[in-house]
Amino acid sequence: MSAQHAFDYHAAFSRTLGWVTTLELQQLRHKRVAIAGAGGVGGVHLLTLARLGIGAFNIADLDTFELANFNRQAGAMMSTLGQPKVEVMATMARDINPELDLRVFPGGINAGNVEDFLHDVDLYIDALDFFAFEARTAVFAACARLDIPAITVAPLGMGAALINFLPGQMTFEQYFGIAGKSDADKTARFLVGLAPGTPLRHYLIEPHRSDTPHRRGPSTPMSVQLCAGVAGSEAVKILLKRGRTWPAPHSITYDAFLNRHIHCWRPGGRYNPYTRLQVWLVSRYIQHQAAIAKKSGPAQSDASQDTMSRILDLARWAPSGDNEQPWRFEVRSETRLVVHFLNQHADNLYNYAGRPSLISLGCLAENLRLAASRHGWSMAWQYQPQPPGGLLQVDFDRDAAQRTEPLCEFIALRSVDRRPYRRVALETRQKLALEQALGDEFRVCWLEGTRARWQCSRLNASASRIRQGLPEAIRVHRRILDWDHDYSTDRIPVRAVGVSAPTRGIMQWVMRQQKRAEFMLGQLPGGTLAAQLEMELLPGMQCAAHFMLVRNAPAEPDDPSASIRTGMALQRFWLTATKVGLALHPSVATLCFAYYGHHQASFSRDASALPRARRLALRFDRMCLENNVIPELVVFLGRIGTPLPQPAHSRSVRMPLADLMMENSTPNPG
Ligand SMILES: Cc1cc2nc3c(=O)[nH]c(=O)nc-3n(C[C@H](O)[C@H](O)[C@H](O)COP(=O)(O)O)c2cc1C
Repeated sequence: MSAQHAFDYHAAFSRTLGWVTTLELQQLRHKRVAIAGAGGVGGVHLLTLARLGIGAFNIADLDTFELANFNRQAGAMMSTLGQPKVEVMATMARDINPELDLRVFPGGINAGNVEDFLHDVDLYIDALDFFAFEARTAVFAACARLDIPAITVAPLGMGAALINFLPGQMTFEQYFGIAGKSDADKTARFLVGLAPGTPLRHYLIEPHRSDTPHRRGPSTPMSVQLCAGVAGSEAVKILLKRGRTWPAPHSITYDAFLNRHIHCWRPGGRYNPYTRLQVWLVSRYIQHQAAIAKKSGPAQSDASQDTMSRILDLARWAPSGDNEQPWRFEVRSETRLVVHFLNQHADNLYNYAGRPSLISLGCLAENLRLAASRHGWSMAWQYQPQPPGGLLQVDFDRDAAQRTEPLCEFIALRSVDRRPYRRVALETRQKLALEQALGDEFRVCWLEGTRARWQCSRLNASASRIRQGLPEAIRVHRRILDWDHDYSTDRIPVRAVGVSAPTRGIMQWVMRQQKRAEFMLGQLPGGTLAAQLEMELLPGMQCAAHFMLVRNAPAEPDDPSASIRTGMALQRFWLTATKVGLALHPSVATLCFAYYGHHQASFSRDASALPRARRLALRFDRMCLENNVIPELVVFLGRIGTPLPQPAHSRSVRMPLADLMMENSTPNPG
């Protein structure tokens, strides 16, 4: 330290004067505060109190910094990864006040050192990990025994929850009552006690991230900063004995997200009947979320895989009609892949002229290209028809100029959302990004406004009415709907279809038997009304817009490569929608029946199906012409919009990569 930059306590902390007197600053300088935990809140507590001018600290933590601490912990930086938290924080605090008297407990707190940790201490501030119940109980019990004021300010959501345990008042155990309880019970009691009146659930957007069994919970950097502000203010009041402090059973929460200050008083603490009811409800909620967390979501790729496997592992998240994943992968060499494509349009009437399956193959091709860019590989493809499917030969090339495509990050996060969306209009920048994503071969026609959305919704409802009652469609629906899983690897989970629970219940009963479904949906007047309303009319109006993807110039009729390029453009469009915060729902059935209507193609043994498809085709043509679009050039239909904030708890996932792999069929040159 040069003489020019010599430390001077008064100069360093004089700007607090006014809010504290000169005498009080001196008093703070001679106080000792114990802080257990030097991570999220503990680290910021220490730095805040050091800047307040407190002269002595006892700090304890047995952990080292890791990447998962970066979102909130003051000492977590690239330069401190792997270093003990107490040492790093002691260095940072001494950088603020080199005269600090710091006692460091790098082994954490245990029954053997708790008295030593609290020796000479004027105030204890709890900053232990949320789930460190044993150590927390031991320190608070010791504080009560030694008449040391103790406070806990817990970071909850985007707020801070304060409880003071002051000498002679209700103790920690009398308030929370967690001794001898199971971990789940302790969690519920601690959570309810901390913020009994705060409706945190209202904005915990992914509740299953509270992983109680693994002692992990979501956190924010804002909450720890708020906590340190609250703890510093309470420290001033307690240490200087002025201002009002509320001891337990009072709890005070400030929630910055809800803009609410909540002061609760729960006489009796753990015995309070309302608290007990809340603990019971929260326990059930935690159990429910733990069950959801167990179910599979998008899998993490395995770091030990080779480059080709990692590309395939990401690319397999491509969407496909009915989640059929009509592809199998044969790795021919380190950089050559052959995708065996199965186009089974004979037994799926939605796969008109095999186009939706080829479009899905295009989505996969685009995913392969994007996933390869992550590894600095470019990609070229070639398609050879081999009825009923074909072979997509993909050659990768190491390319020094290849940069990771930003859309990569959204491949496994993109998912069809069949629920109603918010009705806010698309922003100009969103539209622009989506239009650019399509490239030169395609354009998008937006169908916005109430009239256009109603026109599309009615068209989709008509398509729905045609398909719901057809024996051929019922057979497909019975095959592709998964009634047993919320995350289905090879079908569509029924909870992701977008109908209400009562309609789902009726659907399940109706669909159990083919004959019953044919009668109820095909013969009974109004049999498909609920499905039309819930799957087409309501969501069709509850969105920002419908859209048509349109080819700029005609392609050779039924050129498979043209459909693959459609799929590539569609996938870029869909991933861009995810990137700019929009949800998307295809309406390919309308396009499918319009195609049958145009081509007078027989597609059902129900004689009334074709005339209805012809009428639908006429209405579709009228809508296209009103929008200056040539009907034959429309390659995809759907609706788009800002999703509601509640995340879906059901989606199609994918078959494991191992199940999609084929043996290399080329003869071994050796
Ligand atoms: C070419 C194609 C056509 C599709 N058509 C429809 C459709 O008409 N209605 C629908 O609800 N979903 C449709 N989907 C969405 C798929 O059902 C969905 O992508 C698949 O089940 C996988 O689910 P995910 O997108 O949530 O990963 C279509 C997808 C593709 C690629």
